[in-house]
Amino acid sequence: MSRLKDKVAIVSGAGSIRPGMGNGKATAILFAREGAKVIAVDKNLEAAVETVKLIVEAGGEAKAVQADVTREAEAKNVIDTTVAAYGKLDILFNNVGIGLGGSGLKVTEEEWDAVMGTNLKGVLFMCKYAVPEMEKAGGGAIVNNASMAAFYGHRIYAYATSKAGVTALTRSLAVGLAKYNIRVNCVAPGFIDTPMVQPIMGEKRERNVEARVPLGRHGKAEEIASAVLFLASDEASYITGQILCVDGGMSAT
Ligand code: NAI
Repeated sequence: MSRLKDKVAIVSGAGSIRPGMGNGKATAILFAREGAKVIAVDKNLEAAVETVKLIVEAGGEAKAVQADVTREAEAKNVIDTTVAAYGKLDILFNNVGIGLGGSGLKVTEEEWDAVMGTNLKGVLFMCKYAVPEMEKAGGGAIVNNASMAAFYGHRIYAYATSKAGVTALTRSLAVGLAKYNIRVNCVAPGFIDTPMVQPIMGEKRERNVEARVPLGRHGKAEEIASAVLFLASDEASYITGQILCVDGGMSAT
């Protein structure tokens, strides 16, 4: 219950695009349960407020902030608001990601730019303004959300390419920020049952999961949250620059 006691944490994409439990929402709830003060960021304010409501009802501490993290000024405002509210910043979970667009080469320029922009610029700008605050706090932990799509051929090229970019950015940040005692790691979720993938759930996806995932089922958002909590906590104090696959064993096949 106190693995993040006295820590201040930002979770981006802390809502869910549809009713249900997304990876950011589950992580914000778990961070708060473990004692962190949480800033729940989402471009959809209502979704962030819903997450905060669940945290506060359970006795935790959290505030909702509306921001599009791909806009540099809005990312800066998230960090400023966090420090104004809670005095410091220890943990950042860059969870925002989208996977829209046409399959393969059918992708349009707008779709490509939207996916690459969202999945990469969001991480970059949030880190740009979070890092100076973490330096002031004597260190910190950043966890980024990539995907197993970074490692396997994926139908949506922009998604896979952007997520591979997230792994590269994670390693570069880890090397560059180690001198400030800031650790940077990444989770790579496999098939997770979240609101984002609801539209593509069905028999075909179930068969795919059974065939490719040794544990034979979808993961849950709460199982991503547990991995993020570990990497964000002091229990991972000697771990940086790593990609933790949370994929039911898919990467072992
Ligand atoms: P979700 O769609 O349920 O939640 C994402 C939230 O991010 C939404 O509330 C949305 O409003 C918000 N958001 C989107 N763009 C934003 C922006 N520019 N600024 C601020 N907020 C923004 O999604 P889910 O499934 O929980 O996914 C979260 C992350 O997990 C993504 O990075 C996704 O790529 C990754 N992931 C998900 C997998 C899955 O199977 N669900 C598998 C691998 C990775």
